[in-house]
Amino acid sequence: MTAKIIDGKAIARTMREEMAEEIARLKQRGIHPGLGVLLVGDDPASCSYVSAKEKACGEAGIHSRQIHLPASAPYDEILAATHDLNSDAAIHGVLVQLPLPDPKMERGVLQAVSPDKDVDGLHPVSAGRLMLGLPAPWPCTPHGILQLLKRSRVKTAGAHVVIVGRSSLVGRPLANLLSMKSEQGNATVTLCHSCTKDIAYHTRQADIVIAAAGRPKLITADMIREGAVVIDVGVNRVEDASAKKGYRLCGDTDFEGLREKASLITPVPGGVGPMTITMLIYNTVQSAAGAWSGGGAHG
Ligand code: GUN
Repeated sequence: MTAKIIDGKAIARTMREEMAEEIARLKQRGIHPGLGVLLVGDDPASCSYVSAKEKACGEAGIHSRQIHLPASAPYDEILAATHDLNSDAAIHGVLVQLPLPDPKMERGVLQAVSPDKDVDGLHPVSAGRLMLGLPAPWPCTPHGILQLLKRSRVKTAGAHVVIVGRSSLVGRPLANLLSMKSEQGNATVTLCHSCTKDIAYHTRQADIVIAAAGRPKLITADMIREGAVVIDVGVNRVEDASAKKGYRLCGDTDFEGLREKASLITPVPGGVGPMTITMLIYNTVQSAAGAWSGGGAHG
C-alpha cells in the first residue's frame, strides 16, 4: 500500500478562505481582530515561528503586535509585557512564544495571560475548561490535527488512537479532545511517553498513530500496522551540510518507510505545521467574536 498524503497546506488554505468571510463580517461590525505575540530571546526556531505567525496575520487581514524582549529579560519585565498585551483593546489574542529562555518561568508567564485572550489555550483555566468539555480555546496544534483528520474523512469514533508524546502543548490536550464524547472525539486513546515500556507494542495496534515526541524518525515502518493513519507533529532540525541553511526539517516518523505501509500520512514540512498557524488565526477570530466569554465555541 502506498499512503495518500494529507496536504496540510491545502487544508490550511481552505480554512483560511472560510475564515476570511468571518473576518469580513467582524470588520463590518467595527471589530478588527488583533493578535499580540511576546517573544523572549533569539532562539532561531522561535523567531521563525513568530515571523510565520505575523505573516499569516497580515495575509488574513488581522492586526498583529509583537513585543520582543532580550533573553536576559527578568521575570517581572516578561510579566509586565504580558499585562501590556492583555490590556491592549486592539488585541484579542495573546501568545507567549515557547520555550522561554528560562523554562522555569513558563508556568507563571502562561498564567499571566488573560484567559479571555488565551488563543494558545495554555492557561490553566482554558486547559480545565477543555478537559470538562466547556467552551474554551483549544491549543492550536491539537485542534489543527482534529481538522486534518476531519477534512481527510478519517473517523475517530471507535478508532484506537495511539499518541506518542505527553506534552501539555500537544499530547495531553489531544488525548483529552480525542477521547471526548463529541463529533471529533469518541476514540479510544493510548498515550505513550518516554517511560512507556514498549512503544511499538502499542503503535502496532493503532488505527491512528500521532507522533509528537520531538525525536527524529522515532516511528518506523515496523511499528505500525498496514493501513494505519499517521500524523507527524515533529519539527526537528537535523544537520545537513548539503542544505542551504545547514539543516533540514525532519519529522518524528520515517516518512519514506511509513509511506509504503500507511493509508494516509502527513509530510514534514507541509502537514501539521500550516494547521497550527491556521488554528491560531481561528482562535484569534473566535476570541474577537467573543466566543469564549459569550459561551459557544467548538462543540
Ligand atoms: N512553540 C512551539 N509551538 C508552540 C505553540 O503552539 N505555541 C507557543 N506559544 N509556543 C510554541
